[in-house]
Amino acid sequence: MKAVLGPASRELAEKTAELAGLEAVDVAYKLFPDGESYVRLEGSVRGEHVVVVQTTSAPQDTRLMQLAFLAGAAKRNGAVKVTAVVPYLGYARQDKMFLEGEGVSVETVARMLKAAGVDALVTVNVHAESALENLPFPAKNLSAIPLLAEYFVQKGCEKAFALAPDKGAMYIAEQAQQVLGGGAGHLDKKRDRYTGQTSQTGEGLDVKGQTVIIFDDIISTGGTIVGAAKILRELGAERIFTACVHPVLVGDAERRILEAGVEEVVGTDSVSSDVGKVSLAPLIAEALKALESG
Ligand code: R5P
Repeated sequence: MKAVLGPASRELAEKTAELAGLEAVDVAYKLFPDGESYVRLEGSVRGEHVVVVQTTSAPQDTRLMQLAFLAGAAKRNGAVKVTAVVPYLGYARQDKMFLEGEGVSVETVARMLKAAGVDALVTVNVHAESALENLPFPAKNLSAIPLLAEYFVQKGCEKAFALAPDKGAMYIAEQAQQVLGGGAGHLDKKRDRYTGQTSQTGEGLDVKGQTVIIFDDIISTGGTIVGAAKILRELGAERIFTACVHPVLVGDAERRILEAGVEEVVGTDSVSSDVGKVSLAPLIAEALKALESG
């Protein structure tokens, strides 16, 4: 097995390859003046199971094309199997037809990758596990929540209350609770599918005087966390932190979250950001070792 260092995840891929004991294959890449992507593998992959580590956060389309081209290049150059390790799976939030006339973007992306040469997928905290059910290849979803919770234990926040910003993320709060050893609960969130506006409520939640850590898969605009922090303050939480696997952090999301009374925003290196304090490398390396031996 060899690890291809996708341009969008070079550092993470290098760390992962080192931890998994895999030979790394570097990639030369550029954008042509008209915006088209170019990639070239800088090492041999003949006869190998090749793992391409490439996240697909913004600019999603360029990164997806790079991933597809790398898979194609690996196959053209003799790889026997290509596993795409995509820490942040772009388009995963469009995992069903919410409104008439829509498609299921994540399925279309997967079909495109399959056609390009991808045989299997490994991702991390995909928005909804059901998004991986109808893909044209086997897909494994890893969870970085225990690693994020461990960060807070190291910080002295054991027994903190793990909060999910909506019911769907309760499994995330429960995974964090396993490590933190405190309470867990969720807010209720409703989203208007036409305007995208959300509203949250915290009925029945008892967090008075507690340290609360809001865990989510993604922080994008930060609206969800800002709203959750407001409710937590109203409920008398003493300290508020937030952690997410994918710190997409559009625009001034981090500043708005901190201004809402959150002490610290913690993310992983699935997406490059200045809050990526927890590396996914050990998690992915373990999964690759299991793949190699299985
Ligand atoms: C939605 O259900 C996700 O789990 C996140 O809560 C959401 O994507 C966060 O988006 P934003 O930061 O824009 O509120």
